[in-house]
Amino acid sequence: MHAKPNPQSSSFEPHQSESPDDLALTTEGTGETADSLEDFSDNVSWLPDAITILDHDLNLIWGNNMAETWFGFSTSEHAHSDFIELIQSNEIKEFILGKGYPESFECASPKNPDLVLRLRFLPYKNRQYLLQARDITQIKALENIRRDFIANASHELRTPVSILYGYLEMMSEKKGSGISSEWRQAIKHMRKQIIRIKQIIEDMSTLSRLENPDTPNPSEALDMDELIESASNNARALSGKSSHSILTKVNTNYDLLGNRSEIESLVSNLVSNAIHYTPAEGRITIKWDVKSSVGTLSVADTGIGIEKQELPRITERFYRVDSSRSRNTGGTGLGLAIVNHIVNRNNAKLRIKSIPKRGSVFSVIFPRSRIQPNNRSTDLLFG
Ligand SMILES: Nc1ncnc2c1ncn2[C@@H]1O[C@H](COP(=O)(O)OP(=O)(O)OP(=O)(O)O)[C@@H](O)[C@H]1O
Ligand SMILES: [Mg+2]
Repeated sequence: MHAKPNPQSSSFEPHQSESPDDLALTTEGTGETADSLEDFSDNVSWLPDAITILDHDLNLIWGNNMAETWFGFSTSEHAHSDFIELIQSNEIKEFILGKGYPESFECASPKNPDLVLRLRFLPYKNRQYLLQARDITQIKALENIRRDFIANASHELRTPVSILYGYLEMMSEKKGSGISSEWRQAIKHMRKQIIRIKQIIEDMSTLSRLENPDTPNPSEALDMDELIESASNNARALSGKSSHSILTKVNTNYDLLGNRSEIESLVSNLVSNAIHYTPAEGRITIKWDVKSSVGTLSVADTGIGIEKQELPRITERFYRVDSSRSRNTGGTGLGLAIVNHIVNRNNAKLRIKSIPKRGSVFSVIFPRSRIQPNNRSTDLLFG
């Protein structure tokens, strides 16, 4: 018998808002009204999605035609067999056993490596489990085209924009009477806009790098005390005359295992938002804590907050709650999209709590596999 899997609850998580996977709920609803497995199997046997039902001990009860084809079993032959032994894919085994994977999981079909599947594993009635798989090969192909387009476009734009920027820099530094005051003003505006375009290009190429599964993601043990100290110094510099109070609270016993530049970018995006969207003299708190084997990195502010209905959208590319206000702060609307990608690459979760006019807390929750007690630690988490 296997350790009991722990399918996670469906609380609000930004990275799931794009997911089309709503079938599981429909299926569950059908199951509740069905009198028997037979009724249920009649209803879903020809669905384009794969549906597999497992018992409490992860033995196969039933799979529809798609499940048999994509996973390579036969209900008539393998019913009551241990599904973990049956399935020819280590990543699917680990996903089912709940080893730190997110709620939905993408992988190749064990029977056809060209087929990309998105899996969900859910509790089902009478202490059973339901494994749902959807063919997302075409969606992935389109995503690749979009990603390549953005990567190529931002790469191609870089050089001409740098040349324009260079000339505008030269012109704005030019002293003397060669340039009229009218043109000086225009050059100042052009320079401001070109800096904005440069930032958008930079963010777009960061996003396509983060989206590319082939981008290397080397991990190292990060001293969070040092990382947060440096983030808080940057925050003070960014706040400048606005004089926000920047507080930090760090559990120094645990390091985070992650890619330094990505984690720094995650913290810096959250902290710069906290500064931009918090009035002068407000309070920003950056925290790292580890409890119950889970690491939480959070940035809290006492700023303008976000209306509840906006929350599911704010991690979308270019989405800004109040675009005129954000334009004034120089924002492009890509910061939280970058944060979201880094969160996903670390198998972490982003949780946002916010009360309009009171403030917001952005928390990134890292799984146990990303946390490491360090040499300075006396209290060992993992025994
Ligand atoms: N701490 C916060 N408090 C209030 N609103 C926030 C906060 N963080 C983000 N937002 C809202 O979410 C939107 C998206 O944030 P995001 O960081 O993606 O873009 P941005 O800050 O506008 O631009 P940039 O790409 O430069 O970061 C913001 O425009 C703002 O409306
Ligand atoms: Mg931002």
